[in-house]
Amino acid sequence: MKIANYSSEPLINEEELKKRIEAIGKAISRDFQGQSLIVVGVLKGSFIFLADLVRQVNLELKVEFIGVKSYEGTESTGHVQITTDLTSDIKGQNVLLVEDIVDTGMTLDFLINTLRLKQPKTLKTCALLSKPEAHVMKNPIDYVGFEISNEFVVGYGLDLNGLYRNIPYIAQIKPD
Ligand code: IMP
Repeated sequence: MKIANYSSEPLINEEELKKRIEAIGKAISRDFQGQSLIVVGVLKGSFIFLADLVRQVNLELKVEFIGVKSYEGTESTGHVQITTDLTSDIKGQNVLLVEDIVDTGMTLDFLINTLRLKQPKTLKTCALLSKPEAHVMKNPIDYVGFEISNEFVVGYGLDLNGLYRNIPYIAQIKPD
């Protein structure tokens, strides 16, 4: 696919995404068997992953979103700010935080610290993509879809300056 001033190649195709998300959904259903769950999607990038993931989870669950602003362009700024907060109480609940991609992990660390203050019963993390080479974070990711190298990707909810979220697969993007 040709994107203005960028060329993109599929890195993870739709079939691969579907299979891996089915497997993560099964693992979550098994790990929380007999319990309920609040799935917290990190806006905006997780919206497509979360929509596909929850349909593979066979549990009583609720969906919440938390909005963060952490990036300008393709470089991490290290500044994380909450733009949309949760609308229900997570105290005493099993919470699964769902991220699109973990790069440095600063967003995930910030969100874990923030959500822990709300005293959930358990707090687990899930990311569709992870870039281990870029990690500086302290917390583990409990469920990871795919580990990728340290390159910028778009599609399947992930953006570059707000664009390309609607590409149905994960694309690697390089300036022309
Ligand atoms: P971190 O705090 O460095 O882990 O950055 C996490 C956030 O940065 C993600 O939730 C994305 O919004 C964004 N991000 C990091 N890498 C990429 C990428 O390759 N493509 C699109 N967004 C990215």
